[in-house]
Amino acid sequence: MSTTSIATENHAVETADFLPLHGTDYIEFYVGNAKQAAYFYQSAFGFQPVAYAGPETGLMDRVSYVIRQGKVTFMLTTPLRTNNAIADHIYKHGDGVKVLALLVDDAADAWKQTTSRGGNSYMEPVVLSDDHGRVVMSGIHTYGDTVHLFIERKDYKGLFMPGFREWKGGSRATTVGLKHVDHCVGNVGWNQMNPWVKFYQDVMGFKNILSFDDKDISTEYSALMSKVMSNGNGYVKFPINEPAEGKKKSQVEEYLEFYNGEGVQHIAIATDNIIETVTELQRRGVEFLKIPSSYYDEVLERVGKIDEDLAPLRELGILIDRDNEGYLLQIFSKPLEDRPTLFFEFIQRKGALSFGKGNFKALFEALEREQELRGNL
Ligand code: FE2
Repeated sequence: MSTTSIATENHAVETADFLPLHGTDYIEFYVGNAKQAAYFYQSAFGFQPVAYAGPETGLMDRVSYVIRQGKVTFMLTTPLRTNNAIADHIYKHGDGVKVLALLVDDAADAWKQTTSRGGNSYMEPVVLSDDHGRVVMSGIHTYGDTVHLFIERKDYKGLFMPGFREWKGGSRATTVGLKHVDHCVGNVGWNQMNPWVKFYQDVMGFKNILSFDDKDISTEYSALMSKVMSNGNGYVKFPINEPAEGKKKSQVEEYLEFYNGEGVQHIAIATDNIIETVTELQRRGVEFLKIPSSYYDEVLERVGKIDEDLAPLRELGILIDRDNEGYLLQIFSKPLEDRPTLFFEFIQRKGALSFGKGNFKALFEALEREQELRGNL
């Protein structure tokens, strides 16, 4: 009897979430030179080659490389000709994230549910098939020129998706312990945070789980506001930032200026051992924001006892924060391209469910030092 009631309860939960998501399927970057970018993400961050599509597989206008580490899958796409929407995207934004693809059971239904709630269609449901089965994909627009694709791959047994072939090329670098995408942050324009919060609520059924205002996130010079949106099961989290008034130009404004519009600011990737991960990344030359040593003089008073020794955290520049559920360790890379736009965060959660509010001040001061060096503060 109890089985029946559990089944009924589960059913009730499922029907309440009109857009059930199983997490991030992949993130696609539009880049000027995918061959070189693929080598960079492999050699610096330990992604492994998975799949390739291009003229040899029947794709005449572009080349895409798929690389993976843990459950983090990136697609790096470059246009082969100038008269092409991908080329236009790169001309406008530089290298950046085009697609945040989400794993669903039913891509046609995801498209129907979101577009009927006001989502602007990017791709009507299409079925791609080969000898290994079928993948259904569809998509909607989000902030700036960024899109969400819904990927249904439950009937697909192949390597990645139809149209791609196995790719073993590139670097031979080993993995560094990256596990899954923790969250992806979008930067939007002045007064645009709340409209995009409403979009994620109304169109995608997300909830606003945390909010930060300019009093939480401000330094002497600049400020920003942020709201964290989460889907029903918490697998997909999209914080949305907008600039706030300060004495000088904020980091979000600098981003908007150099990306030439709204877009993905950072991708946070989870690791189970941030000290090992960051030690290896630094050995490979990945650059991180520098945190003043004084941060570590007081941090344990703020966060209490932690399992790790403080010395390697100080040495590597890893930040610590605590909330009611536990603590977290996090670090932020410098921008991944020459424009001060997209960067990575690496995060190890030890119970904490939050985003490092206690580190905002130290972090934003570090960002401002970089901004000032670029002459953009
Ligand atoms: Fe983050």
